[in-house]
Amino acid sequence: MPKLKLTETILRDGQQSLAMTRMTTEEMVPILPTLDRVGYHSLEVFGGATFDVCLRYLNEDPWHRLRVLRANLPSSQLQMLFRGQSAFGYRHYPDDIVQSTVQRAAAGGIDIMRVYDALNDYRNLETAIATAKRERLTVSAAICYTESPVHTTEYFVNVAKEYINLGADAICIKDASGILRPYEAYQLVKALRAELPSVQLQLHTHTTAGLAAMTVLKAVEIGVEYVDTALSPFAEGSSLPATEAMTSAFANTPYAPTLDGTALEEAALYFSQIRTRYIKEGLISPDILRANPEVCVHQMPTGTYSQLFEQVCRMDATDRLPEIYEEICRVRADAGYASLVTPIAQVIGTQALRNVLDGERYKTVTPDFRALIGGSYGRLPAPAEPIFVKQILGDELPISYRPADKLLGAVEKYRNLVAPYAEQDEDFLTLAMFEDVAKHYFEERKRQKYHLDFAASKAFPVHPI
Ligand code: CO
Repeated sequence: MPKLKLTETILRDGQQSLAMTRMTTEEMVPILPTLDRVGYHSLEVFGGATFDVCLRYLNEDPWHRLRVLRANLPSSQLQMLFRGQSAFGYRHYPDDIVQSTVQRAAAGGIDIMRVYDALNDYRNLETAIATAKRERLTVSAAICYTESPVHTTEYFVNVAKEYINLGADAICIKDASGILRPYEAYQLVKALRAELPSVQLQLHTHTTAGLAAMTVLKAVEIGVEYVDTALSPFAEGSSLPATEAMTSAFANTPYAPTLDGTALEEAALYFSQIRTRYIKEGLISPDILRANPEVCVHQMPTGTYSQLFEQVCRMDATDRLPEIYEEICRVRADAGYASLVTPIAQVIGTQALRNVLDGERYKTVTPDFRALIGGSYGRLPAPAEPIFVKQILGDELPISYRPADKLLGAVEKYRNLVAPYAEQDEDFLTLAMFEDVAKHYFEERKRQKYHLDFAASKAFPVHPI
């Protein structure tokens, strides 16, 4: 029986889920040699919200972070979370931008690309997977789990087969909201195992609703060999199951993962100190540390939910939250039961909020929601009702081709635009994905006369916590 292998997410999803992705590279560096000793299958360190937050809030260069992590984690496989055609951003980018981004990530030291499309539309992963294979990355293709009348076991198995046909090495069940129930996971993994007997199966599930530990257990019993976890100081609540708990749960069984317990303890102690400081600073909210069963109703992952919650607070409409939850379900059904992960979760959440505040459904249609119904994010899991499509698009017809087919190459354009700021080759990609946020970061970098080079990254300043 194969031993369970763990992917440590504390540097990406763990801190993203509990501390709004605010952990700095400087805070990570001192503990990297210890993490490198643990014996994880991989460490997820790049992508997801980290790219955006580095630029927007931390005044850090994400590419520089990657080089620092690579230099300090020589024995570990490094993993990134990649949004297919949306790369590290929120809209679809042209193929040449997606290709260059995957190439640069590989050159920066990434070994594994965990890739997903919010609509589970395989066409949106074609370019990313083909490039990753050329760069000799291992590809873990993630199916976004969600509940709806169309999201049957058969549906998920078909998506998995499409991803394998594109060249994926592993299939991950990605449950960003933490709503996957133990016995449903069991059935789903059983079906995937039966149809794809030699494929690595992985599970990424959040503890948000209080289900994850049981779900992991049932999934492992029937064939999942790779599980994502986070070290205990940044685990549980809206994060992932704790690495130590999952290691302990399978001890003295044939699944028992082989990890260095002393290194695990040392790393956990280090991150506990950071956690204590974050709680004092208000970065970790007590609300997301408990089980939130209401997530099963609206299915919104915590990160997106907190963005929506902020919008609701700004509009002084917290008393209308129950209505907003219900409206999210309605809008999601209208939009073919799209799964609520980035960037679709934001599109649906904002439209639902609009509907409630306007007191009338679709009186205002946001440009992003219009694009979603028009096919610009890809094929909806279930086609939207023709009457609804007409209501949103008017006389315009939804597109049926792969959205990126009509996007013009943009590498040259961004290389020219970035010229006044460029300090490293990757800067044009940062600009292509984050436009104004990138420009602001570049200006700040210039103002502080802070220059990037690889030698500097090795001598990155380390302050004791
Ligand atoms: Co996650």
